[in-house]
Amino acid sequence: MTRVLYPGSFDPVHNGHVEMVETAAGLFDEVVVAALINPAKGDGLFDLEERMAMLDECFSHLTNVRTTMFDGLVVDLATEAGADFIIKGLRAVSDFESELQMAQMNAAISGVQTLFLPTASRRSFLASRLIREVARLGGDVNDMVPVPVRTRLENRLAT
Ligand code: PNS
Repeated sequence: MTRVLYPGSFDPVHNGHVEMVETAAGLFDEVVVAALINPAKGDGLFDLEERMAMLDECFSHLTNVRTTMFDGLVVDLATEAGADFIIKGLRAVSDFESELQMAQMNAAISGVQTLFLPTASRRSFLASRLIREVARLGGDVNDMVPVPVRTRLENRLAT
């Protein structure tokens, strides 16, 4: 049985992430999707509990996917969750450098290896940061996020 950990900020989860989780759920026996803090990204729009609630709502239809959240090192969560590998999505070459560096650091401190999966090119422009920015300024992001996220984004930005 192969269990993989798919970590991310997920602030909020978008359709590129959904594609990754659905792909991973077809490739591996179990997928643990985890909302973590990215120290480089500041406070964010949603707190970790809210991000995990959105992950729950988006992936409840997939029986081999579970969701969690964690405040600490991703490799500690990988060990705690019994994950064989970390998986990460690559949208473009621009993702590769930082993802490779994180993968090498994580392998160096724990031995946990990272597998990369490519995102479909039609979704390669999706990024939570841009979705937050566009939504904040009144742009339409409805086709870029799952329905539960639309509602939460609308409510959050209306307040
Ligand atoms: O969606 P993101 O922001 O690209 O995800 C990055 C994330 C959250 C996976 C990364 O920042 C992370 O692993 N954070 C947990 C803290 C950690 O383990 N840092 C060392 C990474 S080498």
